Amino acid sequence: MSRWDHDPDLATLVKKIALERRFGFDAYKESCLRRRVAVRMRARGVDSYDDYAMLLDKDAGEYDKLIDTLTINVTKFYRNRETWDAIAQSVMPNLMQRQAGHLRCWSAGCASGEEPYTLAILISEHKRRTGPAAAMTHIDASDFDRRSLERASVGQYGDAAFEELPTELTRRYFTGQSPKSLKPEIRSMVRFIRHDITREPAPNPPYDLVMCRNVLIYFDRETQKRLVSGFIDALNLGGYLVLGRAETLFGHARERLKLEDARERIYSRS
Ligand SMILES: C[S@@+](CC[C@H](N)C(=O)[O-])C[C@H]1O[C@@H](n2cnc3c(N)ncnc32)[C@H](O)[C@@H]1O
Repeated sequence: MSRWDHDPDLATLVKKIALERRFGFDAYKESCLRRRVAVRMRARGVDSYDDYAMLLDKDAGEYDKLIDTLTINVTKFYRNRETWDAIAQSVMPNLMQRQAGHLRCWSAGCASGEEPYTLAILISEHKRRTGPAAAMTHIDASDFDRRSLERASVGQYGDAAFEELPTELTRRYFTGQSPKSLKPEIRSMVRFIRHDITREPAPNPPYDLVMCRNVLIYFDRETQKRLVSGFIDALNLGGYLVLGRAETLFGHARERLKLEDARERIYSRS
């Protein structure tokens, strides 16, 4: 029995996309999936899943547009400031001390890179104030969306990306005006990877910190549970999981985690 049995046409479409594009399309919330497919169907003037499937056969470029529509990639530097302030104030000092500054992190669903780069900036800030300057930081940043990843590796951003980043940090870590370019010492801390979190294991565990914000909300509850369990497995003991304000933790995951900050959904692996 599949979760799409009540709608065979949608089931066929979901199966087709998974097969042709190796994308975990069926892990998304049904309402979200239907809304996004409807956006594309309207744009192409078709009104049944069957016709849309035929259109995908004729025009392979439509697959990219559909996946683009589904993988909403809005982001910003320092997005949800309070979460970053909590990371800077409590997570960072603890981890830095324990790992002597050598950190391994993963930003899952990183979009165009603002999240992992913000993390790299905070780590640099911490080292600038307290050392050890020579310690290595490695951040894996993954996303399924190829175009977002291309933008991320260029490391140039227009004004809208900076609305929440403190001016002092913008001045210290970027050059140029509009767009601004990220300094090479920050870019070199982050490795971008194309990766489908619903289908592939963590890129290169173990990590000291895993962030996954504004991503789980698009998936059905079972998928969310499975993904969080995978994040916990990918963490070192005592490592941190940051889910941010938009996400909710379901199921047994709570038993494997210690709550560190209820508002910002920050946990550590116990
Ligand atoms: C709204 S953005 C979140 C960006 C960033 N984490 C933040 O909070 O600002 C959601 C990202 O999740 C990515 N995403 C969606 N489904 C995915 C999947 N199955 N595997 C990997 N990334 C996915 C999208 O491509 C998009 O870039």
